[in-house]
Amino acid sequence: MAVLKLYEYPSEVLRQKCERVNKVDDELRRFLDDMLETMYVDKGCGLAAPQVGVSKRIIVVDPNPSDEDLSVRRPMHLINPEIIWRSDEMVLFNEGCLSLPDQRAEVERHEKVRVHYTDYNGKEQELLADDLLAIILQHEIDHLDGVLYIDHLSRLKRSRLITKLNKFYDERKHSNTKKA
Ligand code: NI
Repeated sequence: MAVLKLYEYPSEVLRQKCERVNKVDDELRRFLDDMLETMYVDKGCGLAAPQVGVSKRIIVVDPNPSDEDLSVRRPMHLINPEIIWRSDEMVLFNEGCLSLPDQRAEVERHEKVRVHYTDYNGKEQELLADDLLAIILQHEIDHLDGVLYIDHLSRLKRSRLITKLNKFYDERKHSNTKKA
């Protein structure tokens, strides 16, 4: 397995609408394994293919991405995931994203969603998700249409977050220069 390069805001690939996957073969499964490895290394609970520069409709998720106890990990691979039902009830959750490092903001999501997808073995599946999993799925599936969680914020909150993000990039660049 390999850890893939992470694409961060404002990379163009994060804004593209991803293409459907037609075939689940060993090459794709290798890519799914690499995506999962990348997600665990970067301590995320979800990762979408465009975040590693691949414009395909693929996500990996794990609501328990624990490092300490690997037995609680529940990795899932979802190919061509599609939300086919959304609850009327909404919830607020403080979301982050590996492509917008060091930032968080409260986003409103549907409390429950039903998702249709193709699994690791190429089998069609359906899943009814609630709690954290429902939020992660909505966040990751958004990525496949070029949508980031900041797009759900008010213009003011979004611009404040991007200002803080740019400051973070600046500081990170400086600390890397010092280390070199
Ligand atoms: Ni994200």
